[in-house]
Amino acid sequence: MSGTRDPILPPIEWLSEHSSIPAAVSDWLMEPGSMTRRFECHCGRVQVEPQRECFITRDQLLAEEAAHLPHSERYWLREIVLLGDGEPWLLGRTVIPQETLTGPDLALVDLGTLPLGRYLFSSESLTRDYIHVGQQKDLWARRSRLRLAGKPLLLTELFLPASPLYAVEQDTPA
Ligand code: PHB
Repeated sequence: MSGTRDPILPPIEWLSEHSSIPAAVSDWLMEPGSMTRRFECHCGRVQVEPQRECFITRDQLLAEEAAHLPHSERYWLREIVLLGDGEPWLLGRTVIPQETLTGPDLALVDLGTLPLGRYLFSSESLTRDYIHVGQQKDLWARRSRLRLAGKPLLLTELFLPASPLYAVEQDTPA
């Protein structure tokens, strides 16, 4: 798989304040636990289809990503589509400096179809620095900087139209 293809994510506009986000949407976007597990409450089967897993250089990061990650000679890139009962629900892009890939965390380069959250949320050393909320046209996105034993990685998730996140909006009074 090559590192020179177009990124899976379209450009996202990151919000500087969160006051305009409907409460029920915010409840999804600020989910502190595993998004995969939350999705599993809304379908019979969650599947992850990797689109790209490879090392890239810092100049191949997206414009906004570099500001959230330390300098490294190379970064592990993982781009996936997550399906709920066969429908695309989420695009995920994870960027991991190679210095994070030490000890057991080297397993991050071998995830394949295993959802990232299964690895992260089984680790006792997982912490989150922040979640930023963004929009891509009518779609919601979030960006999380996480740490494993203090070592950073950046996960960006774009919620596709069939995602159950959009079902709640109709239920929420304006
Ligand atoms: C992944 O497996 O890379 C993955 C899974 C679920 C997410 C984000 C990323 O919400």
